Amino acid sequence: MFQAPRGTQDILPEDQPYWSFLKEKAEELARLYGYERIDTPVFEVAGLFVRTVGSGTDIVEKETYSFNDRSGDQMTLRPEGTASVCRAYIEHGMASCPQPVKLFYHAPIFRYERPQAGRYRQHHQFGFEAIGDGDAVLDAELIDMAWRFFALLGLRNLTLQINSIGCHKCRPAYLARLKEYYAGYKAELCGDCKVRLDKNTLRLLDCKKSACRSLMIGAPRSVENLCQECEEHFEQLKSHLLTLHLPFEINSSLVRGLDYYTKTVFEIQPEEKLGQSTIAGGGRYDGLLEELGAKPTPAVGFAAGIERIIINLKKQEIVIPEVPKPLVFIVWMGNIARQAAVKVSGQLRSHGIATMMTYTPRSLKAQLRQADGSGCHYVAIIGDEEVVQKVVMLRDMRTARQEPVALDMLIERLQQKIH
Ligand code: HAM
Repeated sequence: MFQAPRGTQDILPEDQPYWSFLKEKAEELARLYGYERIDTPVFEVAGLFVRTVGSGTDIVEKETYSFNDRSGDQMTLRPEGTASVCRAYIEHGMASCPQPVKLFYHAPIFRYERPQAGRYRQHHQFGFEAIGDGDAVLDAELIDMAWRFFALLGLRNLTLQINSIGCHKCRPAYLARLKEYYAGYKAELCGDCKVRLDKNTLRLLDCKKSACRSLMIGAPRSVENLCQECEEHFEQLKSHLLTLHLPFEINSSLVRGLDYYTKTVFEIQPEEKLGQSTIAGGGRYDGLLEELGAKPTPAVGFAAGIERIIINLKKQEIVIPEVPKPLVFIVWMGNIARQAAVKVSGQLRSHGIATMMTYTPRSLKAQLRQADGSGCHYVAIIGDEEVVQKVVMLRDMRTARQEPVALDMLIERLQQKIH
């Protein structure tokens, strides 16, 4: 028996209302802040992610799904959305549009991770990218937007953490200080952190192992090692966040798992930690577009994990709108009635009335059970006798009341019931 690949999931009909609800709210959010939708290919030339996400990151080093296509070019299923959007911005000359260009997407994302609750090998993200403006007001607006998203969804008890990790000017000196500090404790570091010490020093701050976490307390903090420009940017950001009444905390060990960030980074987490709890994260990436060959172009963005949001919606028992069921279920008895049922269902659908019916002959009781299970509001019962009399028996499934309705009045009658 085949099963869905490890770390992937089928999104079954019963979960689809959550997905529709989230997409609707993400679109509402995009409208509120002036973001336009973009879709990029599921796979890209592998080098795009090596250049941007970074060759020393877990994502690129251990987690990509990469393959050679039939002409021998190396491709990678996208392990995140930002790099593709920036590639598209450059490829389509969006630098000549009014800046910033604000784009959003929802997309499947592929990372070969160790699957567990809330961590999948294929997950889905809503992402929002604002490209072409470096002002801290935009960072604050974006963080406000991420925070508002969860308010629109009705999620409670979230925390918002921010940090600044500097830029290409001030980061090297900070990394040297960080490395010097951790080098003094090399023997106490976990195996991964010993490697990070040389390859990806900043990620030492992100280790979840308790021995490494306790070393973090005394580690130099990036916010105390910023150049004047980054410091001013961070001060402005905090002041704008206060103006927007956002309840942020500064977390000096927040560094994120992708190399492209500069200055602002932030994450939103549920207070009650559920497996792999971060539900949204992002920050500024002022060097990314230049890395891809554009002129220096500041940018900022965030993405939210759809599966993790749904876990939290369920955990907090948030009621989401139901997807409407078809209005009518046609039940028929006898061959002549079956012909009539086929005809009536076609006529109803032509008038925009969502209709279901049974196909194979079954007892009236079995058909009514099926109609009940479908969630339709009305059942139209047609027997050979009704065909002769040109009527159907229309039953309201909620009140169990039924009445004969002339066939040529059925559409009008049902339309009245919709409005
Ligand atoms: P990220 O933090 O790697 O950022 O992913 C964004 C969100 O996707 C996470 O906060 C989490 O909710 C969800 N997520 C990540 N990995 C998994 C997984 N394996 N299973 C389930 N959910 C997951 C980015 O990808 C950046 N591109 C965000 C960004 C946009 N930065 C700037 N612009």
